[in-house]
Amino acid sequence: MELEDNALFNAGTGSVLTTAGTVEMDASIMVMKRGPAGEVRVSAGAAAAVSRVKNPVTLARAIMEKTPHVMLAASGAHRFARRAGIALCRSEELITAGARQRWRARQLQPGDRNSIPAMHGTVGAVAIDSSGNIAAGTSTGGVPGKIPGRIGDSAIIGAGTFVSARGGASATGSGEAIILVALCREAVAALSEQSPSTAARHTIATLLGPHQAEGGIVIVDHKARIGFAHNAAAMQVATFDSTDLRHFWVAPLAGTHS
Ligand code: GLY
Repeated sequence: MELEDNALFNAGTGSVLTTAGTVEMDASIMVMKRGPAGEVRVSAGAAAAVSRVKNPVTLARAIMEKTPHVMLAASGAHRFARRAGIALCRSEELITAGARQRWRARQLQPGDRNSIPAMHGTVGAVAIDSSGNIAAGTSTGGVPGKIPGRIGDSAIIGAGTFVSARGGASATGSGEAIILVALCREAVAALSEQSPSTAARHTIATLLGPHQAEGGIVIVDHKARIGFAHNAAAMQVATFDSTDLRHFWVAPLAGTHS
């Protein structure tokens, strides 16, 4: 939620704008809990194309916890938010001066309006607790210049967010490519044979690379090992355990960033 509230990130307040100059945000959360006999239970929630909640990931969690559904979108998601006690805001409150300025600059740019610029800023997190329960969440304003109604990977379980008994993952980057390769689902599946670090590097290089797409991923496995990788210009990563907060600037995978 703090990252959604921080206008430096493309999520919540400070989200990028659609071609119509509006905010439409996506978020998802997935949780794996172990039952009393060690059985695995997964649940998930997602909010898509929402424009009137400050913290879409909170809405995604409420959808997971309080409805029989996985995803709600747009006006139906707003109606549910109100019923769930999540305050609605005016969408203008989420639009920063910087986001409006970048939108205006893009409107003036000649060139292909159908191209999607490589500008990201999605926020994501993966956590494991001392009982081995794992959660992953992702939140974004999407990509600048998107057509209103476009829903990206951050709302899609398996693409931008995924958790199983093996571990959890959250992705950032070119949403369309991430959906096409089910990036987080594939990365978590790879944990059966690979460390999180290898799985992160491998999935970015072999799945996003062929699509000429930019992206990044953070992974935590069931042993609480951490992995991350990206092929974009930059990705910031922070790790936190009971004693230590560490912040990294992560270099892109060699040979993948043009
Ligand atoms: N990965 C964010 C988006 O494409 O919407």
